[in-house]
This record gives sequence, structure tokens and C-alpha cells, in this order.
Amino acid sequence: MTDARARQLLASLKATEYVETQRRVGRAGLEASFVREVAAQHRAASSLLAEAGLSAELKKAVTLLREITYPLAMQERSDFPGYYPYTCVNILDWFMKNGRGGLEDLKRRSILGIVALLADVGRFELHSFVGCEPLQPLHFEPQLALARIQLLREVFAAVRHASALIPGCSCLWPPEVPCSDRLENYTSGPERLQALVYFSCLPRTQFHDEVLFLRAIHVSELCFYGVRIATAQAVRALRRGAAATACAALEQAAAFADVLRHTFLLLRTMPPEHFHDFRAATANASAVQSINYQLMDIQLFGLSEHKVAAFKRSPYLRCLLRHGSGGPSSLRSLIAALPSDGDDAAMAALLEAARSLDRKLLAWRGLHVAFAVEYLAGVPVGTGGTSGAPYLKLFLRDTLFEETRKEVRLDEAPSDGCGEVGRGEGGIPGVHLAPPRDLMGPDQIRVKKRRA
Ligand code: HEM
Repeated sequence: MTDARARQLLASLKATEYVETQRRVGRAGLEASFVREVAAQHRAASSLLAEAGLSAELKKAVTLLREITYPLAMQERSDFPGYYPYTCVNILDWFMKNGRGGLEDLKRRSILGIVALLADVGRFELHSFVGCEPLQPLHFEPQLALARIQLLREVFAAVRHASALIPGCSCLWPPEVPCSDRLENYTSGPERLQALVYFSCLPRTQFHDEVLFLRAIHVSELCFYGVRIATAQAVRALRRGAAATACAALEQAAAFADVLRHTFLLLRTMPPEHFHDFRAATANASAVQSINYQLMDIQLFGLSEHKVAAFKRSPYLRCLLRHGSGGPSSLRSLIAALPSDGDDAAMAALLEAARSLDRKLLAWRGLHVAFAVEYLAGVPVGTGGTSGAPYLKLFLRDTLFEETRKEVRLDEAPSDGCGEVGRGEGGIPGVHLAPPRDLMGPDQIRVKKRRA
């Protein structure tokens, strides 16, 4: 009985039509009736999944249906998307099997996902350049597409380096599975890659560069995740005095951070005026709401007092405040406690790996501040409700080592982005990439609306 209802629900959503309708007009331009229909499918999927007796195969497909319909279910309730409905990062969490599998496997999956998403950026820019891409045609500039394709070589080189450091990891994009109307076909495909690529990029507008912006967020989220997991492994190894293991994990974290840096360099091919084409449509979406990033940050540096206000505003970030009072140690506090006079080779290699991670993250933060300063010039408040660039500057020089702040020249950051320092301590991550669905889900918002 439950299976029969699940089959009926799955048959009611034609995957290609679902994606293409949204890509043709942009999510902000969708007919209200389409949004309502998808939101109803989302509710039906959620209630089916809450029932017992659904067969395993159908459960997988209904779960995917619930995930892909989540952004429009949120849109039905509010046309001002927050971070998760705007970015579809919940699909990345689904791709990562919601954190199931060992940590080694999660790092390998992060690389697989990064490769697939970057390959999609390359395909999109190339197809747009040669003139066979029907989607997102507005404000397209061919020379920017060429520059991006060229820069992608460097991003891929950084991914190859990261994959070489992770045992059993491949950075080859497996043969593509053709798009299908049946969701069941996406749950059994190679490593869920086709679904990751196909269902995660649903821009709000038809502007070409919004695709690059969304993909930069997706790749960055997987990099944050890789840094987070590798750092957690390093922390555990450090606690038991296993310097060589900690060193290998920190080298991996540094390699993920390098992919992050290259991804931001790729995004900088987007001129500020192209960002302004679609910025208003992103409404309340700010990555300050990314639990994955904030967990990575706490794991590295501990909880910063400057984040308390932002965390208090969010139902799923609030739980991070517990890291303030004697939570598990951050990488920074563990490194600070290492003996400074140790001269063994393993310890020296460990410190060098930590310094390399520190430099790469600092360079990334420099690029990020540069974005905020240049792209939001004259905008007093960030979409996340913070002070914007001044908020980011608080953390710019939040480093593992005092020396990193002094020795690194932030060539890529504007000079006014290098002045201030943040601080913090304590924290360890769970393995999810997105928050629990009931905390980011539409039902909660609906309840609030009813009460109002
Ligand atoms: C045009 C490009 C971008 C601009 C202008 C920009 C600007 C900002 C601003 C102003 C903030 C402060 C919080 C707020 O919104 O109020 C912020 C936070 C943040 N942004 Fe961006 N950003 C850009 C691209 C990205 C991308 C591609 C990512 C990748 C996921 C990202 C990740 C983050 C994160 C993780 C935070 C929170 C930082 C923290 O709490 O320490 N940003 N961004």
C-alpha cells in the first residue's frame, strides 16, 4: 500500500521537466501553480518517509524526491530564500550519504563531487562559448568563458594534488549517465554523481554568472567539508600523540584549502556588475548560515565571540554555542600546547603541514574579504545580517600561528582587508554537511506562519 503510493508520487514528477522548467525561467520567475505542485510533492514525500513499510529501493527514490523538491517547498512559503533553499546544499549532503561511511570514504566522495561539479562548470562555459547552451543566456561574455576554462586547469591541478594524498581516491570524472525522467535511475547511478550535478544548480535568474556563483558555493562547501574531516582526524591523532598520522591529515586539509583558494580565483572572473545582476534575487542567502563552514572554523580555531550573535539568530547554529564552554579542543589550541623545543622530524613535518594549511586558509580569507569589499561597496549590511566586509575582516587574520599573519603577503587581498584579528577556542565536528532537515525544513516555517 505504502509502496503503491510511493510509486504514484514518483511517477508524478518528471525529473527532466522539473529541472528544465526551473532553468528556463529561473526559480524567481516560476509560476505559482508550479511551485505549489512541487511543494505538495515535497510534503507527500516527507509524510511517506515518516511511515513504516516503504521498501528500501523506493525509500531511496522518495528521499531524493524530498531533497530535490525542498527549495521550492521553501519558496512556496517565502520568496526570500535563506542559504540552504537558495544553494541546494542539502543535495550535497544527500550525495555524501548524509555523512554515512568512514571518514576516509567521505574525503574520497568530496573529491569525486568536486570533480563532477567543476567538470559541469567547464561544460557549461564551453557550451555557452560555442553557442549550444540554451540556458542562462543573460549578460554572457565569451571572453570570460574562455578565461574560466583556462583557470579550470589550475583548479583541477589542485584537485589532482588533493586526490593523490587520499588513498584510493580518483579524480577522473566517470562516464556520464544520461538524464532520465525516473528518479529511481538517479539513486542507483555511479556514486550519485549525475543527481548531484543535475539537481543542485537551480539559479534564481537567467543570468549566466549565477551558475558560476552557485557552483563556486558547491565546490567550496565540499572543500570546507574535506578540511573539516581531515582536521578532525588530525586533532584525534594529535591527542594520542600520533604525529605522522596528524601530519598526513593536515596535508590533506591543506590540499582541500588550496582547491578552495583556486575556486575563489575562478569566481573572481565574475565582474562585480555581473554579481549585481542577480544579487537581489539571492535575498537572505548568506554562507554565514553554513553549518558546515562554521563547524570547520570551530574545529580549526574554536568558537569566536564575534559569531555568537549570528549563531543565536539561527535554530541550527545555536547548538554550536556549546563549544564556547570547555568543548573539545581546536587544532589551534592543540598546536599551541605542543613542545616548542622538540626537534624530531615527525614533529617538524607536522608543524610544516599545519603552517601550509594556515597560509592557504589565510589566502582564501583574503580573497573573500576582497569580494566583500569590491562587490558590496556601499552596501552597509551583509545578506546574513552582519556588518558585511567589516565582519569578515574580524576573522581575516585568525590563524593557527602568529607567524603566518606576519610572513604571508596577501597579494590577492585589498590592503584595507588585512588589518584586524579575530580569536576563539574549542570544537569538534559531526559528519553532516547540511543541518537536520527538520531545522531547515519548510514545516517549521509553516508552523510559525500559522501561529502569526
Ligand atoms: C561575490 C562573492 C561573495 C561576496 C561578495 C561575499 C560576501 C560575504 C559577506 C559580506 C559575508 C558576511 C556575512 C553576511 O553575509 O552578512 C560573507 C560570509 C561568508 N561567505 Fe561570502 N561572499 C562571496 C562569495 C562566497 C562564496 C562563493 C562562498 C562559498 C561558500 C562564501 C562563503 C562565505 C562564508 C562561509 C561566510 C561566513 C564567514 C564567517 O562566518 O566567518 N562566500 N560573505
